[in-house]
Amino acid sequence: MKLLVTGGAGYIGSHVVRQLGEAGHQIVVYDDLSTGREEAVLYGDLVQGTLSDRQALASLFSTHRFDAVLHFAAKIVVPESVAHPLMYYRNNTSNTLNLLETMQEYQVKYLVFSCTAAVYGIPDQVPVSEQAPLQPINPYGASKMMSERMIADYASSSDMQFVSLRYFNVAGADLQCRIGQATPNATHLIKVGCEAAVGKRESVSIFGTDFSTPDGTGVRDYIHVEDLASAHLASLDFLVNENRSEILNCGYGRGYSVREVLDEITAVAGGSFKILEAPRRAGDPPQLVANNEKILTELNWSPKYNDLSVIIQSALKWEEKLAKSRV
Ligand code: UD1
Repeated sequence: MKLLVTGGAGYIGSHVVRQLGEAGHQIVVYDDLSTGREEAVLYGDLVQGTLSDRQALASLFSTHRFDAVLHFAAKIVVPESVAHPLMYYRNNTSNTLNLLETMQEYQVKYLVFSCTAAVYGIPDQVPVSEQAPLQPINPYGASKMMSERMIADYASSSDMQFVSLRYFNVAGADLQCRIGQATPNATHLIKVGCEAAVGKRESVSIFGTDFSTPDGTGVRDYIHVEDLASAHLASLDFLVNENRSEILNCGYGRGYSVREVLDEITAVAGGSFKILEAPRRAGDPPQLVANNEKILTELNWSPKYNDLSVIIQSALKWEEKLAKSRV
């Protein structure tokens, strides 16, 4: 297929581009390179541009006849969204509207959208299913919820079909260590922990030890970026074969606490680092774990790296590579 991948130079997008390229698809990556990196794009053509530029979008869509769009381009840092909500609504929601209007104009039929478990806010029930009420507790989650709603409304009124994948906590790197999470000042727990393990950080703070969880620290469903990426290829197959839309949680359905993650990083790294206890971080739910029955039934997708240790091994290897390249 001829595919447009927005945000394809970013962490998750670049892993999907690599798998799409290996599967023989024709790819155009559209990325403003604000957090993405040119060298992470291992397949296809890279066009630098922003989704706020309607003219650039029109010229892109008129040059290529895309069969489908995979839409990753977004800002993703929760605390930043609390401090700068309008930036999030412009960059995530308004830019998605631009993309949808361009897709409408050029009659592009399929869309795979990067949504997030942050749309659930603090869920009443864990594991949380797709039917749970959407009650985001930060502008990031709200910006994605609004985008998903626009996509669903447009799909209902047209021939366009979509799969919206609600990502849980994505971590890890390409097993051959060609690409990984390279964003400076990253805030993800596994990335931060691996940075501490390789000596790039002094310590890791546990944000909150008084949650209503077994050990008092936050519980998340960590999914390997390679499995998340393969869910996008399975979503494209689903769209072509089934020709209908779906909203799917993308996680393993098993939660780990912050302490469990840090213990595992220590074990994999074979050495300890300083761990501090800090107050809760604003906007953090106590537990977020996927009910993943729907994705397992609907898509032809079987996760291959459903193992915290494997996720951490790949993340650590990548962090070691980054540390060496800085010397
Ligand atoms: C992450 C993503 C968000 C996504 C969401 C879906 C980021 C910044 N956030 O949020 O885009 O929508 O998953 O579930 O990528 N923690 C610490 N110390 C640290 C860092 C984190 O204790 O230094 C704790 C957090 O309080 C939380 C857990 O670790 O309990 C995971 O945090 P993090 O990796 O930042 O991801 P989320 O905030 O869950």
